[in-house]
Parts: sequence; C-alpha cells; structure tokens
Amino acid sequence: MDRIRITGGNRLNGTIPISGAKNAALPLMIASLLTEQTLTLENLPNLADVALLKRILGNHGVDYTVSGKRAGVVRQAGETVGLTARAIVDTTAPYDLVSRMRASFWVLGPLVARMGEARVSLPGGCAIGTRPVDYFLLAMEALGADIQLDSGYVVAAAPRGLRGNRIAFPGVSVGATHTALMAASLARGETLIENAAREPEVVDLANCLIKMGARIEGAGTTQISIQGVDRLNGAIHSVLPDRIETGTYAMAVAATGGDVLLSGAQPDLLQSAFDVITSAGAEVEQTNEGIRVRRNGAALAPVDVETAPFPGFPTDLQAQLMALMTRADGVSHITETIFENRFMHVQELARLGADIQLDGQKATVTGVGTLKGAPVMATDLRASVSLIIAGLMAEGDTIVNRVYHLDRGFERLEQKLSACGAQIDRLSD
Ligand code: UD1
Repeated sequence: MDRIRITGGNRLNGTIPISGAKNAALPLMIASLLTEQTLTLENLPNLADVALLKRILGNHGVDYTVSGKRAGVVRQAGETVGLTARAIVDTTAPYDLVSRMRASFWVLGPLVARMGEARVSLPGGCAIGTRPVDYFLLAMEALGADIQLDSGYVVAAAPRGLRGNRIAFPGVSVGATHTALMAASLARGETLIENAAREPEVVDLANCLIKMGARIEGAGTTQISIQGVDRLNGAIHSVLPDRIETGTYAMAVAATGGDVLLSGAQPDLLQSAFDVITSAGAEVEQTNEGIRVRRNGAALAPVDVETAPFPGFPTDLQAQLMALMTRADGVSHITETIFENRFMHVQELARLGADIQLDGQKATVTGVGTLKGAPVMATDLRASVSLIIAGLMAEGDTIVNRVYHLDRGFERLEQKLSACGAQIDRLSD
C-alpha cells in the first residue's frame, strides 16, 4: 500500500494548477444515464473515484471513450471523455460497487427516470457518519416512484414514468438535490424543489442538464423549478474547477508561508473559506490566471469557524483548517455542523503534537510552537489531506499511511506540491 513521506519546513512558491472538481464530475458523469446520446465532459480530473464511477456506469451500459490520449502520457490538464448510454443494459447498482463510493447511489434518479425502475444498493454508513438516504427516497416517492427496501437494496418502480411534484427537503443535501434534479428533468410536468442545496456543483449539474435540453430555473438558490421534458440530448460540458482542492492548497500556503498562484481557481466558489484564510493572516488576491495566496513570516491568527452548507464554510475544508490552526498564535474554535463524526483527523494531528480538545461537535485548537513529524494514518479523503498540511509544517519526516483515501480526490498531489518546493514523495511497497 502506498505511503506519502513529507519532510516539513519548506515554504511553497510557484504555481499549482487546479483540477476539475471531483464533486461536480461525479454527478455530471451520472447524468449521462439520462440520454442515449453522447455526453462529452471536458476537464475531468484523473481520480480513483472517477475511475470507479466509470466502472459502475459501465455496468449499466455506459460506453466511455477518452479523446486524444497517447499511451504513457500523463496529462497536466483534465481529460475529455465521451459517455454514451445508448441502451441501459442493467438497472441494478450492486452492493460491491455502491458500498465503495456513496455518490454512486445517485444513479437511482436517472435510472428510474429513464427506465421506470432501479435496484440500487443502500450505501451503508461510512467513516464520517451515518449518512442516511431518507431525502432521496422522499424525492423519488414525491415524483411517483414506488419504493421498497429489499435485502439492503432500494427497489424503485415507476412503470408509467415519473411525474412532477413539490419536493420539500427537510434538510440540505447535495446528493439528494442532484438526484431530484436529474429525475425531475425527465418527469412529466413541473417539479419544485424546496430547500435545495446551493453548492456550485449543483449549479454545474443544472447547467449541463440545461445544455442537454432540460428546463431548469433557480439552481444556486434554495428553490429550483424544473419543467420535465420527454427526452434529453447529448452535450459538451466542462467540469468546473475544484473549490475544495483550491481551498486545500490555499491553506497549505497559509501554513508554510510562501507565494503560490492557484491557476484556474475561481474565488466566487469559496468566498467564505478565503475570508477565513485572510483573517488567519494570509493574503488572497484574484488575478487573471486564478488566485494568488501569500503569507510572509507573520504569525497565524486563530479563528472561530462553523461549517455550513454553501455559501458557508465547507465541511470538506474543516480538517485542513484545523491542521492550519494547530500552529496559530492563540485558541481557535471549529464547529462541525454537517457530519456528526468528522473529527478522525484529531487524534492523528495529536500524534504530531497538536493540542486539540473535542467537545461534541466543537473542537478547541490551541496553537503550539512546533509540530514534530510522525507516522500517521489517513482515515478519509479530507482528513488525509489535513495530515499532508500538518506534515508540511512539521519538523522532520511525516509518513502518511493509507494514501488511497487521498487518491480518491486529489490529482497528482505530490507533483503539485513538490513543484512548489515541498519535500514530498510517494513510497510504494
Ligand atoms: C456531498 C459531497 C461531500 C460533502 C457533502 C456536504 C459529493 C460527491 N460529496 O456529499 O464531499 O462533504 O456533500 O457538503 O459531492 N442527509 C440526510 N438524509 C439524506 C441525505 C443526507 O439526513 O437522505 C444528511 C447527511 O447525513 C448530512 C447532510 O445531510 O448530515 C449533508 O449531506 P449531503 O449534502 O447529502 O452529502 P453528500 O451529498 O453525500
């Protein structure tokens, strides 16, 4: 199993290209199930989750082609791929695939919308919390699907097709909003989604669906209305830049000091995170090419932050912010409001000498003068990259084990950081 070794202490200087967003790429790929024509996605990141979803979609009958790829060439920019679901050959999404990536559950919406049926394994719990699917079932039932639970599977049937309706979500869910959007696009009549997630990835999916012929208004607000259409077409769509990758590298620069251009990054996708990074003492500036983040030798200031749905501070940057605050000059408070168990990085950061007290959903981080490198264990995607940030700040060597978590969501992380002066390499056994 691969490990990553970091020798901390170097400042970061240079340019880091920002990849296409994992969390946009996944629903966009799933949208290919809605049409028999080809959906072409540009700027698709090269990630383990994308490769896994490709397999899952292949199982349903989606044909996948990569444009202009030469053998042995590692692309610097994302790939352009064509996804064609000429015929859906299987409406079952089996446990062994869905259990490996929760987002694959989202095939439920398009499969029922196009085929009138689907049998999708429940994703089960995962490391960061119970993550139920009640909102998805509520949405599909509102659209007229009959839902049964059978041996760990959701069995949904709408033999005469879905029909538009009001879907009032009790809480904000990104995945349930994606699923409802895709299903309602092919339902008969009008759907109104209330309490919709406002995340930029929802807007990206809606924009792609609109190119495919869907009639959607209000994406990016809490109310989305959709006029169902009989069929959708193929389209060409470019995946938006990854705001979580952007925020992660911005925090890495704030952590080590230095001057880095995050090329291709879009500031409007993560204003709340930049406000926090700025109040911690880094300078953030928009340029024609992206976002420039700088910090000179000044001490880091502590912050008080609560995670929240967009446009609030993203839960997917909570662990990275905590790593940064381990070296602040004072006491920070970080409260997690989205997932009930998203603090597994705390005990690993403590191995490097961090001082963090947990009280329910609130972490109190008392900045320390130095962190010291140690072996640590990656526990989930975002937690693992917080250990990378801590390792970059620590004295000596940090070895991050279980790097496969990182490979799910960060493209060429070691190359991007070492090009800016970090001492980081991958150890393959
Ligand atoms: C997506 C992101 C993930 C991010 C999360 C929150 C992808 C691939 N993943 O995950 O990186 O951390 O949004 O921004 O885009 N909930 C219910 N019932 C449901 C569905 C959700 O109670 O049926 C709850 C969840 O337990 C959680 C909250 O809603 O507490 C938000 O989860 P949700 O937005 O659904 O997360 P994902 O879409 O899985």
